Amino acid sequence: MEISFNPADLLNSAIRKAASSASLSNDFDPVVRPADPRFGDYQANGVLPYAKKNKLNPREIAAQLITILNEQGLLDPELVSWDIAGPGFINFKLLPAFSLQWLRRFSTEADLKSGAGGRLAGKTIVVDFSSPNTAKEMHVGHIRSTVIGETLARLMQFAGANVIRDNHIGDWGTQFGMLIWAIKHNNYDPTTADPNSAVAELEALYKEGHAAYKASEEQADSIRRELVKLQNGDAENLHIWKSITEVSWKAFQTIYHQLDVSFDEVLGESFYRDKVENVCEELEKTGLAEESEGALVVFHPEHKRFAKQPFIVRKADGASNYATTDLATVLHRVEHFKADGMLYVVDSRQADHFQQLFLTAEKWFKATDRKLPKMEHISFGSVLGDNGKPIKTKEGGSIKLKDLLREAVSRSEEIVREKNSNLPEETIKEVAEAVGLGAIRYVDLSQNRTSDYLFSWDKMLSFEGNTAPYLLYAVARIHSIFRKAGIDESATFENASYLETDEELALARKLLTFPNTIDQLLTDLRPHTLCTYLFELAGVFSSFYNANKVIVEEQNIMDRRLLLCSRTLTVMETGLHLLGLKTLKQM
Ligand code: ARG
Repeated sequence: MEISFNPADLLNSAIRKAASSASLSNDFDPVVRPADPRFGDYQANGVLPYAKKNKLNPREIAAQLITILNEQGLLDPELVSWDIAGPGFINFKLLPAFSLQWLRRFSTEADLKSGAGGRLAGKTIVVDFSSPNTAKEMHVGHIRSTVIGETLARLMQFAGANVIRDNHIGDWGTQFGMLIWAIKHNNYDPTTADPNSAVAELEALYKEGHAAYKASEEQADSIRRELVKLQNGDAENLHIWKSITEVSWKAFQTIYHQLDVSFDEVLGESFYRDKVENVCEELEKTGLAEESEGALVVFHPEHKRFAKQPFIVRKADGASNYATTDLATVLHRVEHFKADGMLYVVDSRQADHFQQLFLTAEKWFKATDRKLPKMEHISFGSVLGDNGKPIKTKEGGSIKLKDLLREAVSRSEEIVREKNSNLPEETIKEVAEAVGLGAIRYVDLSQNRTSDYLFSWDKMLSFEGNTAPYLLYAVARIHSIFRKAGIDESATFENASYLETDEELALARKLLTFPNTIDQLLTDLRPHTLCTYLFELAGVFSSFYNANKVIVEEQNIMDRRLLLCSRTLTVMETGLHLLGLKTLKQM
């Protein structure tokens, strides 16, 4: 019997085989889940609903499955024990030999990855995340999309998918008329601007252009003319637009680099400008779009709100918009990338847009005989300030992301110095970066993404509770156990005997449910599940370490405890790396 990454998989497939011997129908699902420890390690809950649906006696079915499991050798009794429970549950216990084999088999991050790798193997998933707008500073609102998106991308890769990270930047639209007008008006040259301040300057110029547009009809006219020139490919305006894009991208890159976030594609809205007309044509031809007050729109009569609230794909002035580029984007991702799935990591205020986009794409693809992959809006709430409103600077402006990251690192540096003043200067800097950036990231990921959360420096930088500093410290502490003992963390611990004490067993049990957490994460795409798991694992490890001396005389006991330490380290680091944190050997 080969040990599976998720022990539940192995139990699941054994019961399925038993069920087919017992001639249960194909829709029988064993539903194996981690169980209440008082009853066992896993429980199959699927018999009851199946029996109910088919008007059968659940207890009899469960008994029959157990008999088959006993007789056909589908499970190894040296590794697992099983029993019938209650009205028709099947309980499983993993025996000490199982845990030991699992711990031996999944020793490194790469082992865990290959264990999980079958989940999404062969699938191409596009993750659309971060996606700021050019000529505008990234602000605190962008942190969520950026870190949630990066984590989901890492997770999908971990599960074996071919992931395409796509930054759908807002780099096209009517705002460029105002911006180009103001740039010309001020003789501003984006190509020679200081990359550190260029985006702020562009933002100010945009505001000036916007004000000018409102101020007089004459200026509004010349602004419109600049836009039309850009759209018609005028060399000068195109050059200005390109330099705006470049300097903005440079500024974004500094932040991405700091956050260890990368992209495979940066196909912004401008990339689709020659692809939108075809979309409108197809929507018209298939009868999905109609004229309404001069605009081309799509209604969804079956929908409560979207029967009346239109999805505008061409404005009355003839221009395409966010909706049209997003439709063109769907087609490109399907045709060019052969995407099997698309995740849109965008804040909850765009929920309507994505619902309308998905509905429209579904009908459009159906009408044109194309296959639409699964698309999901990975929605998230806002970051709130003390007053419970979206967080702002004292002056009421939005907080720039680069300032926020800088402050995180400097605050954590202060704390690190205070806690451990004898670390070498270089290490202090390294620790401060990892803790500060890790804290900002972790606090975001550890919230259920669909809720808003209150931003608090003290909480996120605390060494207690479900925080980055606490978890990073837990990792560093395990490293130091090995360092102090002069033992290599990746040794084989050959003499390890079966786990025995309650704390050893509890720790192994927790480690073996890591795959379960991964599977849950792959289903609901909520990173906080992983944070909660890691926090609990750190707690279980602490209890183990406090109760069970690791460095002892008896080699077999020491080895099995070191094995547990080593695997806790692997699982903790793997989890934290999925969350995008840099782990440390020393703090
Ligand atoms: N640039 C947009 C904004 O800042 C987000 C784009 C999200 N991605 C998409 N395919 N619509 O609101």
